[in-house]
Amino acid sequence: MQERGKFSNKIGFIAAAAGSAVGLGNIWKFPYETGANGGAAFLLIYLLCAFVICMPIMVAEIAMGRHARLNPYGTFKKLGSRTWGIVGLIGIISGAVILSFYNVVSGWAFGYFLQISFGNLLQEADFSAFFTRYIADVGDNLLYSLAFMVLTAAIVLGGVQKGIERWTKILMPLLIVIMLILIVYGLTLPHAGQGIEFYLVPDMGEVTANTFYMALSQAFFSLSLGMGALITYGSYISDDDHIVNSAALVTITDTLIAFMAGLMIFPLVFSQGIEPGSGPGLVFVSLPGIFEAMGPGIGNIIGGAFFLLLCFAALTSTVSLLEIPVAFITDQYKISRKKAVIGLATLIFLLGLPSMLSQGAVGWLSEFVSYGGKSHDFMTVIIDIFSDIGLPLGGLLISIFVAYRWRMHNFSAEVSKGNPGFPGSRQEKFVSIMLSYVSPLVIFFMLMVIIMEKFFEVDILSYLF
Ligand code: PHE
Repeated sequence: MQERGKFSNKIGFIAAAAGSAVGLGNIWKFPYETGANGGAAFLLIYLLCAFVICMPIMVAEIAMGRHARLNPYGTFKKLGSRTWGIVGLIGIISGAVILSFYNVVSGWAFGYFLQISFGNLLQEADFSAFFTRYIADVGDNLLYSLAFMVLTAAIVLGGVQKGIERWTKILMPLLIVIMLILIVYGLTLPHAGQGIEFYLVPDMGEVTANTFYMALSQAFFSLSLGMGALITYGSYISDDDHIVNSAALVTITDTLIAFMAGLMIFPLVFSQGIEPGSGPGLVFVSLPGIFEAMGPGIGNIIGGAFFLLLCFAALTSTVSLLEIPVAFITDQYKISRKKAVIGLATLIFLLGLPSMLSQGAVGWLSEFVSYGGKSHDFMTVIIDIFSDIGLPLGGLLISIFVAYRWRMHNFSAEVSKGNPGFPGSRQEKFVSIMLSYVSPLVIFFMLMVIIMEKFFEVDILSYLF
């Protein structure tokens, strides 16, 4: 077997894990999910899901990976059994499928960088019509998503430590700075206050089972949990890393950036009279308005810089997504890293084509299937199954695996390596109760509710309450 990669130090791992977490999930998905699911109430439930349900699962993933020093399949098999290995395998496949559509959306962000910096996007009369036209345009999308995949592959080829750590440390702070500028500027626009009210003053009357579920699945997606990205990264860290602190830091960073994205978007949405629940186009439709308001020149520069930084944030996430199957292939088979990277990147790029074409370019993919009383395009179906359902399901299985198969004392011993105070601590009790009881029950219950509602239009809650 070839030598496995390793992060150079604690900060390197935190930078890479935060780089994986922070991405389109925070800036593209979080605002549109918040907008579609009631605003502030969603935010509140999201925070609860991220810190109470997801953070312990993050600790579990990292500890599993570090103990086994293998990819998700190898990890489940080594710590559990061949059958458990299948769970890891499904995670790896989900990661590949998620990358396939994620790469397409990354291509949109790249196109927006070019269109704002060098094109005439900001002169458009109707940003919504532009977006609709833009994502249906096969030429640009094909080119940019191909470029994105090539870049991702090039970084993954360079190996975990060199590629990811350096970029994240420089570019993430820059992204935060530019977001702060946009937040402050956005607040000066007319009707910005309504956006803040929508985002920060909860209306619990709007909350449904769906709100809880979408907040939960969004937290999994945003924190890169539930399919083994952090098992993979965990397999590259050293024994004296403090897993609990690292997980807390990653969760806080990721949540902060998602929160800021909401602060940035909702004032714009309300000042431009955009429907907050209008879906995946929300960020692409509302942001150009602020760059336009800043005026030509400065608007093009700030707008271009924003989308370029968003591309970097997306890149550190696509890198982590591609690293999962690459780790699997190189751990389990005698295939060189180079061959694995090239083969997988090609395969996943091709897998993304139907998603790309489902945004208006090809009719039947754009109206792929109907469920829940609506027709859905191919990309939405993939997101529904592999992300919205797949990731919480993965989290459920990880909790059960750690608590009942690998066992809490083995888990605790692993975490204690870099954290000698862990056994007997309050941290340990909390994580143990969450993984053994709360997370499995809560996630299972929510999964049942949502699957029945989404695909069969049966509202279980109405029978219970
Ligand atoms: N967390 C990333 C984001 O928010 C997406 C991602 C999901 C990355 C799953 C890796 C694994 O953009």
